[in-house]
Order: sequence, then C-alpha cells, then structure tokens
Amino acid sequence: MSAAIAPDAATPEPVLQTIGLSAGYGPVPVLHDLHLRVDPGTVVALLGPNGAGKTTLLLALSGVLPVMSGEVKISGTPTKAPLFRRARRGMGFVSEDRSIFRSMTTAENLRVGSVSVDDAMDLFPELKTRLKVTAGLLSGGEQQMLTLARALSRKPAVLLVDELSLGLAPLIVHRLLERISVSAHELGTGVLLVEQHVRKALAYADHAYVLSRGRVVMDGSGAEMSGRIDQIEEAYLSGMVLKHADQEAAPVAAGDDGPEA
Ligand SMILES: Nc1ncnc2c1ncn2[C@@H]1O[C@H](COP(=O)(O)OP(=O)(O)O)[C@@H](O)[C@H]1O
Ligand SMILES: [Mg+2]
Repeated sequence: MSAAIAPDAATPEPVLQTIGLSAGYGPVPVLHDLHLRVDPGTVVALLGPNGAGKTTLLLALSGVLPVMSGEVKISGTPTKAPLFRRARRGMGFVSEDRSIFRSMTTAENLRVGSVSVDDAMDLFPELKTRLKVTAGLLSGGEQQMLTLARALSRKPAVLLVDELSLGLAPLIVHRLLERISVSAHELGTGVLLVEQHVRKALAYADHAYVLSRGRVVMDGSGAEMSGRIDQIEEAYLSGMVLKHADQEAAPVAAGDDGPEA
C-alpha cells in the first residue's frame, strides 16, 4: 500500500489557475493579486464593469501580456510560454477581434482553421445553409457561431472567450452561451467567459468572478451569484471607470440585460 496521499478525487486539478497574479501594461499593474481557477468541464464567467481588467486578464492568461508577479498554471504546470505554445497545449482564445476572414466563405474559414466542416455543423447546424456565403456577409450572430465552431471543434482543454455576444439579440446570446456550456460539459473543456449580459452569463456559468479595478471583489457559483444581483450591481457602479469627471455613472452593464434588467 502506498504511503502517498491520494489526490482528492472530488477536487480535480484546475485546467487553468492563477496564483497571486499581477499584470498590466508597462510598469503599472492593472491586475492585482488575482487568485482564480477554472476546473475541467466548467464554465466560469468573468464579470465586471468596463475597464475592470477582464481583457487584460485574458491577455495575461494567454501569454500575450507578461506576468508581473504571481503565476499562471495550465493543468497544474506553471507557464510563461507565449500564446502559440499555449495553443499547442490545448488553449483556445476567442479574442474581441473575431479573426474570421471576412472575404472567405464560411467553409473556407473552417478549412483554413483546419476544422472539419462536419464537426462544425454538429455544433451549429444553423450554418449548414451558410457554408458558401462570404463570412463578411453573415449576420453578427452567424459570425460568432463560426468563431465558436472553429474554437470548439479543436476540443480545447481550456477556452478563453472575450465579449462574444456584444451587440447580439438576446436569443442568439442564449444560443451561443448554451452551446459553450454544453460543449464544456461534454468535452471537459474549462471555459473562462467574459460576458456583459450578467444574468444570462450566470444562468449558464458554473462559477463566476466579479472583477473591479483589477481585483476580484466577489465570486461564487452561478446559482449563488444569481441571488446576489444587487451586490453585483453595486460592484459595477463602484468599479466604473469614468472617462470624464463630469460623466455620470451609467446604468450597470451596458446591453439589454444587465443585472438591473
Ligand atoms: N494597451 C493598453 N495600454 C495601457 N493601458 C491599457 C491598455 N489596454 C487597457 N488598458 C487599461 O487597463 C485597464 C483595464 O482594461 P481592460 O482589461 O480592457 O478592461 P475590460 O476588458 O474589463 O473592459 C483600463 O484602465 C484600461 O485603460
Ligand atoms: Mg474588455
């Protein structure tokens, strides 16, 4: 019998973890001492007002921005590798700029992404009639389906997604979030999802963090956090970065479905 202590089967190794992470642009940190984890097969929502540091965090996690202090671990291993090497280890990153080729057709976009059309159509059958259409002519929702189809078809171990649903109709937002959630659970992918539609994100998230001014100010399960919308709203208001001193704090979370909706 081994004397070693068996790992606790109930606590899987996170696919992505930060330990005391600080990062920013130049010498000034934007993110301060962040401790977050994303477990396999779970969707983790990253919420917070504009300027909170959500995109900065995804850039630091993907290796685009250097870490100032602390650590990023992928499946338990600390990494300082650049983005392309993290991608080889199973990290997907859907950044704010969609990086679809607008002048190529939907099918060509899948092909250049080395993604099988069949796999992509299993994820989004809606795109079947759109395969020969130039991606630039797809609706906003279809473009995001194409983006997600490419990212999910690669069956990433961990997927970072930044503001996928900006400007899309509520039904499409639900469709995209549902697809992410089902795929995460089926594939065992750990997803870290930046989303401005707070209630919708919480409806699909297994866990959520609220970031404000570069710090985690709240976290909890999706269900717990859905019951704390008032507190989330306060965190949004107190964390608002006003561009002009005379600007009033706008209602929480731009979009049709902020925490106040
Ligand atoms: N390229 C950059 N250079 C310097 N500061 C930046 C840069 N990008 C963002 N910031 C600053 O970092 C902070 C966090 O921004 P960001 O991560 O984009 O927030 P979010 O995605 O939550 O809206 C903001 O104060 C923003 O002004
Ligand atoms: Mg952002």
